[in-house]
Amino acid sequence: MTEKLVLVTGACGEIGQALVQGLAKQGGYKIVTADLAPLPESIREMSAEHAQGDLVYKIKTFYDYDFDVIFHLAASLSSKAEVSSEEAHRINVEGTMQLLMMAAYRSEKYKKSVRFMFPSSIAAYGMSSLEEKKAKGAVKEEACNTPHTMYGCNKLYCEKLGVYYSKYYGQKHLDENPPHFLDFRAIRFPGLISAFTLPSGGTSDYGPEMLHAAAQGKPYACFVREDTKISFMAMPDAIKSLLMLLDVPREQLNHQVYNIAAFAITAGEFRERALKAFPEAKITFEPNPRRQGIVDSWPEDVDDSRARKDWGWKPDYDVDRFFEEYFLPEIRKRYGK
Ligand code: SER
Repeated sequence: MTEKLVLVTGACGEIGQALVQGLAKQGGYKIVTADLAPLPESIREMSAEHAQGDLVYKIKTFYDYDFDVIFHLAASLSSKAEVSSEEAHRINVEGTMQLLMMAAYRSEKYKKSVRFMFPSSIAAYGMSSLEEKKAKGAVKEEACNTPHTMYGCNKLYCEKLGVYYSKYYGQKHLDENPPHFLDFRAIRFPGLISAFTLPSGGTSDYGPEMLHAAAQGKPYACFVREDTKISFMAMPDAIKSLLMLLDVPREQLNHQVYNIAAFAITAGEFRERALKAFPEAKITFEPNPRRQGIVDSWPEDVDDSRARKDWGWKPDYDVDRFFEEYFLPEIRKRYGK
């Protein structure tokens, strides 16, 4: 069987590293990686080629490759994007647009649908108040698409761009024999937690930061209130979802953007669980108004019934299994506690 050529942008990020490992484990892929940074040791051997540098300026080189699949993970996350919003727009929107154009061009020229996998986010939602957040509960994809952050606006708009390039580009779908279009698929991820890497620049980072600090015996001041609730997921489930959605035949998919969920818990519940595992942990709450505002605008939970119905999505890790079977065993090995 010939290998599929896959591009992973943002390969050095949290999802990137775990995804490259997942693709290598699954086999059947030749992996090209791209990132601003050099590849970390953990995935160096798995990448056939690494393009280091700014994607927006590197894009021309990718026109020469015959990619079957693109995972476009490179992004500036929500907290960082509020600090330099124009730069975030350039990275998040311009980078995506350039890659979509490249994928659409190749799909049309070689009459082959390039699969374009895009991680979107719960940041695409925007709740006007805590009362609304509570009242809405688990939101469906179409609800409350009114993001409060640059990152959320970027993700929502890029979803729309992906749908445009995959369906309506140049209005050529109206032709008698419409050309091939790229096959765009997006997943709106909740906050992700890995036992191996730490996020940077995000706002759901308080979850993983608190747990990693507790496991290392370091004090942690959580930047959101105890009652702050959003949905989280174990990194292996996030990778599973990307690999699952990648393989679903197009005809089976009734949508292009899917929520996925695993467990919704409060920062206070995180603390309780951390203390149960590491009784010496010192976790306090010192809310930062700006970061608190961002998380307050995200839904408490998301409704992933559409993904469950169309492609059989189901997470492996609920909150108990997340702690008992994934996070704690791995983190104990890592920090030797
Ligand atoms: N985890 C991301 C962030 O906090 C949201 O997708 O920015």
